[in-house]
Amino acid sequence: MERKFKNLCKPIKIGNVTFRNRMFSAPMSGAEITPECTIGSKSTAFYELRAKGGAAAVTVSELMVHPPTDASHAYHLNTQTVGSVASFTYTADAIKRHGAVPSVEFSHSGQYAGTYLLDKNKKETMVQYGPSEGTRPDGIPVKALTKGQIKDIVQAYYENAKLAKLCGFEMIMVHGGHGWLINQFLSPYFNHRTDEYGGSLENRVRLAREVLTAVREAVGPGFPIEFRMSGSELFEGGYGLDEGVRIAQAVEDLVDLIHVSAGSYKFGFSVTHPSMFREHGCNVYLAEEIKKHVSKPVATIGALNDPAMMDELIGSGKVDVVVMGRALLADPFLPEKVMTNREDEIVKCLRCFVCMAERGVTQTRRCSVNPLIGREWEGMDIQPARKKKKVLIVGGGVAGLEAAVTAARRGHETILCEKSDSLGGILKCEQGIDFKHEMYELGVTLERQARLEGVDIRLNTEVTPEYAENVQADAVILAVGSTPIVPPIPGIDGDNVVIVNNYYKEKEKVKGDEVIVLGGGLAGCESAVHLARDGKKVHLVEMRDVLAPDANIRHRPILLQELKDQHVVCHMSHRGLRITEEGVVCEAEGKEVLVPGTSVICAVGQRARRDEAETLFDAAPVVKQIGDCIRPANICAAIYQGYHAAMDI
Ligand SMILES: Cc1cc2nc3c(=O)[nH]c(=O)nc-3n(C[C@H](O)[C@H](O)[C@H](O)COP(=O)(O)O)c2cc1C
Repeated sequence: MERKFKNLCKPIKIGNVTFRNRMFSAPMSGAEITPECTIGSKSTAFYELRAKGGAAAVTVSELMVHPPTDASHAYHLNTQTVGSVASFTYTADAIKRHGAVPSVEFSHSGQYAGTYLLDKNKKETMVQYGPSEGTRPDGIPVKALTKGQIKDIVQAYYENAKLAKLCGFEMIMVHGGHGWLINQFLSPYFNHRTDEYGGSLENRVRLAREVLTAVREAVGPGFPIEFRMSGSELFEGGYGLDEGVRIAQAVEDLVDLIHVSAGSYKFGFSVTHPSMFREHGCNVYLAEEIKKHVSKPVATIGALNDPAMMDELIGSGKVDVVVMGRALLADPFLPEKVMTNREDEIVKCLRCFVCMAERGVTQTRRCSVNPLIGREWEGMDIQPARKKKKVLIVGGGVAGLEAAVTAARRGHETILCEKSDSLGGILKCEQGIDFKHEMYELGVTLERQARLEGVDIRLNTEVTPEYAENVQADAVILAVGSTPIVPPIPGIDGDNVVIVNNYYKEKEKVKGDEVIVLGGGLAGCESAVHLARDGKKVHLVEMRDVLAPDANIRHRPILLQELKDQHVVCHMSHRGLRITEEGVVCEAEGKEVLVPGTSVICAVGQRARRDEAETLFDAAPVVKQIGDCIRPANICAAIYQGYHAAMDI
């Protein structure tokens, strides 16, 4: 068979182990650990699916090596804890049985110990240890590790490595990046020691070398050790790429794979986890440079999901391995799809940060485009329905498409009717905004999947009660979506006004260098960023005193920063009264003020199409509603509801 992405699909030998391709699954901890800090069956199923999906290595994360000086949400490998060794062994088995190499990440949070700790009492009473005495920016005091403690920590790496190998892990990743303990020692920002662990680069790298030496002693020669590092810390006071190169050189004799990530968790979350505002592969340059100076294989990571791009990175010799995190949450079968030339079926990560936000807020694993994430242990295969039924889906937006694909996969005769001449619903609007292109692509991918599953797609078809009566469906799923709210103010229907949903087809109506976005919710803020990046001077007008309250806790601060960086002028507590050729006249603090601009983008929200939905309540014996027609929400809600409505039929 001729593989399209030959370089990506090529096996690689690292240490004594051959990996089946170049696509590795990044460490991605979740909150589903057991109270004893073992992996447990839920997490095991999560990792197992990444192996089944075709990744060559699956890294379990993250193992806190030394609980006495660290504390987190993470696993401890501990022979004293009932079930710990067995739990790790089952996980390694589960990854191995699908042909992937099981790896486990070893970490220590250092002065950020307890960052994810859920136990508040423990969090308040614990001591944070780092390379040097000091106070964190959030006011938490930090104690310097003594040499005795450092020795204990190194010994803990040794013991855990022995146990990990015993449990069947075939690779160990030592976390030396992202601002955690080893990185803190490497960093001139955190490390002010005056002993042999501080000062010169040789001294700052000492802890990393001691740890890697201990791990090597424990696992023996040939057993792959992967060193995860930040190629550059990318914040003022941290080390840059020149030192990143020297760090890689200083450890390369002890490791088999140098995994080059970027940034520091607390000073650049959106660099370490590149946000939608950054380019795909924006951190590759770090790995590429390091590769020029070392002789060991080098891996890269950061917003990678495009097979052609990843194939080129390897083919051109920039890196040897690509590692993906969120892309494999969105679609664990991405590697298999690449291997089998089905790249156009890949469901791409939106970089919406639902995964990281939900982890913090609800302590669950969630992904906007993957309704089964975090529930892998329940079984992932869509079972055929006991009785084949006729299912009519009304509305071809994201919820309707997801329902159609799922219903068809269950073997139902599935008809999808869409009033307009194309599928995708509100996702079509996203093609106008470059950094949201994957949201648009989601609609395209779901349409492709629906066609592959044999869904009977009927465009330009409005479903009336009579139409439904004629179809005689056993079940109807209402996914009629929402419609933009248009505020009834004078001038709203002027030629200088574009409703945000229509922006992608009416771009040419946005004239002049100074424009106004009316509405500071998520859609308005993102439009403002887009227009500013397009070179416009942008005014954002918001009635409330808060911007983007509908954005999740991870995306929101990044979005607000982006508004600042793009110099968007935010007019808070301003109520639009009328639109003129000069701009929007607003009421603010009881006075009328003109916010100037030649064009206005109206983004004041969506309203559920309740009326349309309600006319079809008796359209079949079983009628279900999903997505925005219940209440305008987000892609995540639409996908989950679409999937489950179809599963319930
Ligand atoms: C939900 C989630 C959990 C993560 N947990 C870890 C972790 O435990 N250890 C770690 O080193 N990195 C962790 N990361 C960071 C990823 O390994 C990766 O570096 C980052 O997501 C950037 O890669 P991506 O753009 O392919 O997602 C996590 C990322 C996500 C999205």
